[in-house]
Amino acid sequence: MASIDRTATVAQIVTEHPGCAAVFERHEIDYCCHGDVRLDEACRSRRRDLAALLRELEAAAATDAAGPDDKDVRSLSVPALIARIVDRHHGYLRTALPFLEGLAAKVAKAHGSKDAKLVELSAVFGELVGHITSHLEMEEHDLFPALMAARPEDRGSIRTELEAMLGEHLVVGDLLRRLRALGGGYAVPDWACNTYEVLMTELAKLESDVLRHIHLENHVLMPRFTE
Ligand SMILES: [Fe+2]
Ligand SMILES: [Fe+2]
Repeated sequence: MASIDRTATVAQIVTEHPGCAAVFERHEIDYCCHGDVRLDEACRSRRRDLAALLRELEAAAATDAAGPDDKDVRSLSVPALIARIVDRHHGYLRTALPFLEGLAAKVAKAHGSKDAKLVELSAVFGELVGHITSHLEMEEHDLFPALMAARPEDRGSIRTELEAMLGEHLVVGDLLRRLRALGGGYAVPDWACNTYEVLMTELAKLESDVLRHIHLENHVLMPRFTE
């Protein structure tokens, strides 16, 4: 079984063992925008038992090693890493965002009188769509081409652009946390209709995909230019 270093940061653990992302998500430990925290510290602040969490992480890492899907992202070149981010994550968002925006509006209209949080959820989702849409454009048209063409003397300007990217990720991370709170942790109440249930399932999926996406950009792509 893979051994997990308890003094590594949670972001480093996910970079090394992508399957551990799901464990951190289950325990609401942020490996993404605030992932530069040591595992033992993260456990203390989320009041999780370190030994029990280590067992879960080790089991996830072991399955991960056997999985065909995720070859080590650290071995990818910058263009291959960017292509993977754009194909998998930007591509997914371009389909998921309009679908979920419509679904959230529909659920707000049908059940907003019973639960006003659903109306707010739909509005916050609209904010998320606005932020992410312009963020993807910025990355695909400005940042990623600049990274692929970067020369050693461009390091200063590249760092500034990457720091702007980090700032935008923080905004997205906050919106995701607000959505999760408004969606009651994406639990489905007894009275929920099918549409409500699909919305909660798909919002949880979107959150998970965006966290993995931001993790790749913050902790795998960015260090290629800043370390
Ligand atoms: Fe991106
Ligand atoms: Fe991004």
